Amino acid sequence: MTDRHIPKMAELAPLLRPRRPSLGPTGRRLAPVASIWDLREAARKRAPRAVFDYTDGAAGEERTLARMREAYAGVELVPSVLRDVSSVDPSTTILGRRSELPLVFGPTGFTRMMHSEGEPAVARAARATGIPYVLSTMGTTSVEDLAGRVPGANLWFQLYLWRDRGAGSDFVRRAADCGYSALMLTVDTPVPGRRLRDVRNGLTIPPSLTLRTVLDAALRPAWWFDLLTTSPLEFASLNRFEGTVAELIDRMFDPTATIADLEWLRSAWKGPLVVKGVQSPEDARRVVDAGADAVVVSNHGGRQLDRAPVPLEQLRPVLDAVGDRAEVYVDGGIMSGADVVAAVALGARAALVGRAYLYGLMAGGERGVRKAADILGGDIRTTLALLGVSRCADLRADHVRLRSRSSG
Ligand SMILES: Cc1cc2nc3c(=O)[nH]c(=O)nc-3n(C[C@H](O)[C@H](O)[C@H](O)COP(=O)(O)O)c2cc1C
Repeated sequence: MTDRHIPKMAELAPLLRPRRPSLGPTGRRLAPVASIWDLREAARKRAPRAVFDYTDGAAGEERTLARMREAYAGVELVPSVLRDVSSVDPSTTILGRRSELPLVFGPTGFTRMMHSEGEPAVARAARATGIPYVLSTMGTTSVEDLAGRVPGANLWFQLYLWRDRGAGSDFVRRAADCGYSALMLTVDTPVPGRRLRDVRNGLTIPPSLTLRTVLDAALRPAWWFDLLTTSPLEFASLNRFEGTVAELIDRMFDPTATIADLEWLRSAWKGPLVVKGVQSPEDARRVVDAGADAVVVSNHGGRQLDRAPVPLEQLRPVLDAVGDRAEVYVDGGIMSGADVVAAVALGARAALVGRAYLYGLMAGGERGVRKAADILGGDIRTTLALLGVSRCADLRADHVRLRSRSSG
């Protein structure tokens, strides 16, 4: 029989952890977060429903978003064992510049709606992590303001083709003047996608005070306090606009844009040019022929054409089409560093994320974005080591197996 005794205080003392020093509300919200999915839950608790849904949601029945996440969930990683992984270096080169991770914080519109710290918070976290950040045309911080407030960050600028070509040229000049290192043209947005959650929530920009939002404010006081006590929420690069996101896209974006416009942009911008939203090998070849230095295989996070193909599965054909004429990146559905490693093993130079860092921003401003970067970076390092690989360049396609998916 086991001999038991009543424990003495001296035996218990080493097991008792001192209470955490006071962390403040943001610290308390972030302390238990261990994954991007946890960060998503923390974001859901802080942000009003319409704001969370704008970020979290996608177009139509959200089939593409679900399929993208399922594709990553179906990835099997096959380790090589007995390799020296005492020092793992996940850095790589993106458009000729060193990046500490094969990761880019992608462009996302209206970032200050998630948290008043907005784009500068994301840029600072990207700078601390040593990765590029892409400011969106639909950003809530201007090209000049962001460059001035976060010196030393590797900033890219994302452009849409405007009905007013003069406005496009103006952006290109401003981005060059402010030292943005690359220009990204997004080509998957000729018209707005049907984002049903936004329609159901009646989301307007800026958020309007209705009975529903006032009731919601009672449940999300921190977010509303933040909104109402900081400078007004507006698109920094656009004239004052009030209406829905779909109305805005409709008014501004040009459905007549063609490859000739890309050629025009190529001549206007001297630095590296990235085309985002390519979804087939034919289009990848066309945009590289027109002068793109890199393509992002992307469907806008499933927010435009629902049922668009899964970028991870389009990666191989696109790589075969462009060969070594352009860098190829991928995005959509990435929720962990292991997803990033899988994308790189399958041939992507880097992966972009949108929601992953926006969940962090919504949950805790800059600290939340840093948490997202730390989770992804830590995960990438651990996954590489467990795969028996000490550098991204040593990742091979046979480190990854794609399990066939059951649902459609
Ligand atoms: C809230 C939100 C706003 C976005 N705004 C833009 C934008 O202004 N320009 C753009 O090219 N892509 C935009 N995107 C798409 C992202 O750049 C990226 O392609 C997508 O988020 C990748 O999928 P993920 O969110 O699952 O990582 C946005 C995505 C989200 C979630």
